[in-house]
Amino acid sequence: MVSLTEKAAALYQGEALAPMVRASTTPLRTLALQYGADFVYSEEMVDRSLSDTIRVENEKLQTVDYIKDTTKLAPKVQRKLARDGNRSPLMFQVDRRIEKGKLVCQIGSGEPELALDAVLHVKQDVDAFDINMGCPKKFSVSGGMGSALLSDPDRACRIVKTLRDHLKEHPVSCKIRLLKDTQSTLDFITGLVNAGAHAIAVHARRPGDEAVNPAHWEDLEELMPLVRSKFPTLPLLINGDFYTRQEFTDFHKKYGTSGVLLARPALYNVSIFRKPPPKAAEENDNDATTTTYGYDSPLLLDKTTVVQEYLKHALRYNTHHKNVKYVASEMMTNRRTPTPRVNSMPVHFPGGQTIGKTCSCHSLEALCKLWDVRFSLFDGSKTKNVDHTPLPAGEHKYDDNYILQGEEPSGTTTSTATESKDNITGVSRKDTQDSSEYPNKRPRVEASAS
Ligand SMILES: Cc1cc2nc3c(=O)[nH]c(=O)nc-3n(C[C@H](O)[C@H](O)[C@H](O)COP(=O)(O)O)c2cc1C
Repeated sequence: MVSLTEKAAALYQGEALAPMVRASTTPLRTLALQYGADFVYSEEMVDRSLSDTIRVENEKLQTVDYIKDTTKLAPKVQRKLARDGNRSPLMFQVDRRIEKGKLVCQIGSGEPELALDAVLHVKQDVDAFDINMGCPKKFSVSGGMGSALLSDPDRACRIVKTLRDHLKEHPVSCKIRLLKDTQSTLDFITGLVNAGAHAIAVHARRPGDEAVNPAHWEDLEELMPLVRSKFPTLPLLINGDFYTRQEFTDFHKKYGTSGVLLARPALYNVSIFRKPPPKAAEENDNDATTTTYGYDSPLLLDKTTVVQEYLKHALRYNTHHKNVKYVASEMMTNRRTPTPRVNSMPVHFPGGQTIGKTCSCHSLEALCKLWDVRFSLFDGSKTKNVDHTPLPAGEHKYDDNYILQGEEPSGTTTSTATESKDNITGVSRKDTQDSSEYPNKRPRVEASAS
């Protein structure tokens, strides 16, 4: 029988699609795997939200869907759902035929018991669990989640230990940010590993760092040998501004890291995961032009092709058009790109598509028309009267203005980016999973991307 340590060593290895709220949903994850990602993370899901779902085997899509348990919603919201045809919002969807053995489910939690409820609820459909210990958003931190755990190591370790004590088949990993100095980060990691963490991913920024400023690779370089010498076989993942395979490979060779998480580089062009055939890679080990990926790689596909492929995956999973618009628009802009990289990240669409035109599409069909993709929804059940109404895709706010106007600089709040009215509960709240975790100080995105 394979031990959990062996399982973790096999899983947390290579290049992964990083967790990204709103973006790391089924179509992007499966497209990343198609292009060559070794494993994928889900978006972060808050423990309670995940626990309050019902598992449905979706025959039509041949997926497993976790949909909101509407009986747990406020009566007012239930009435609204009834008016809208009683369709329960989709929180999480898995395609086991493609994702099996490669899916890490990320949980946002500040309470061991709540984390445990959530993981036990979905464990049969995922391969491992990750705890988000890096999100600096106010919602996360005020709930004792995300980067709040960096300053509460006891709580962080209790969460890990509780999951470890109850999960017999699932490795548990933690995605952290740097602490104030190398020794503090090392101590924090040591605590997590001693509590039972099977893998650690380090985003080379501290809470509060601007995402458009370069990540602190120099701190990673200092930290990694220390972690390696303490834990020689621990799967150790690096994250933050890795835009070429050469950069990651250099790190790996020097410091013995096991893998890299790609968030913005993959969101901007997910074909970044394409690899040369293994033999060619071996033969050309010293040839940077064939081993590089990123925006100088001959393997990178043009962005129009990538958006079209993404749309095909969205059709396959009947993803809500608002989620699709959001991701397609993010693929069309370099607003999140670290400043030094912007020049190598062109946003040109010869077909004349713009973010404005993409945002004005109000159905998957309209998006397909704009992007010249044949509209055909998947139906694995082959039943005749197929209901093609898409399910809402989780508890997010997909306001077009969010993309069209960009996000406000950090430290300010707007009704668009951080304060939203929850369309599930009807309660005004801070957006629980706001991807403005990485705010951008650059000017607002133009409606025309080209
Ligand atoms: C749109 C977006 C959403 C994100 N959502 C999450 C998340 O759900 N969980 C998480 O741990 N990090 C999240 N992050 C942070 C990334 O996983 C990653 O740590 C960060 O972007 C740095 O990596 P990169 O340089 O490869 O983008 C998000 C980042 C972006 C851009």
